[in-house]
Amino acid sequence: MKKLHVSTTVNGDAAEFLAEPGTTLLDALRDELGLTGSKEGCGSGDCGACSVIVDGRLVCSCLMLAAEAEGKRIETIEGLASHGELHPIQQKFLEHAALQCGFCTPGLIVASKALLDANPDPSEEEARYWLAGNLCRCTGYDKVIRAVLDAAAELRQERRVA
Ligand code: FES
Ligand code: FES
Repeated sequence: MKKLHVSTTVNGDAAEFLAEPGTTLLDALRDELGLTGSKEGCGSGDCGACSVIVDGRLVCSCLMLAAEAEGKRIETIEGLASHGELHPIQQKFLEHAALQCGFCTPGLIVASKALLDANPDPSEEEARYWLAGNLCRCTGYDKVIRAVLDAAAELRQERRVA
């Protein structure tokens, strides 16, 4: 089948790849661009392990066609750390031990970034509601929520100082 040529921006860099019409964005990220941080948990939009941010919106990349990424701006877990420094959300997940096997973790962190981009000061209830689509079999969710609220506080502090 004829492959489609897709031009997009991934984590701030121009990216191009070829994809079959039915290829998902998740498979293109992993197999064509080598960005294997986004995971396939369910492949059906139920677990959030494949979460990415597309033009500022949180998306399950297993449900989006790669061809739909044409001209879009995509953020993946690989884009969060900068110059060897973990993003505050990543750092807080470590500090709060908010992961065990880690399979859900990239999706949880990307979803948390989308939350804090949209709402820098979420309540616990808002954070739990936002992350309800990200399933974790290992940790329970309390440590995750504590990490996200702590990261939110740190990011607000950073903004005040800047
Ligand atoms: S792999 Fe996409 S939601 Fe589970
Ligand atoms: S840490 Fe294992 S699924 Fe979440």
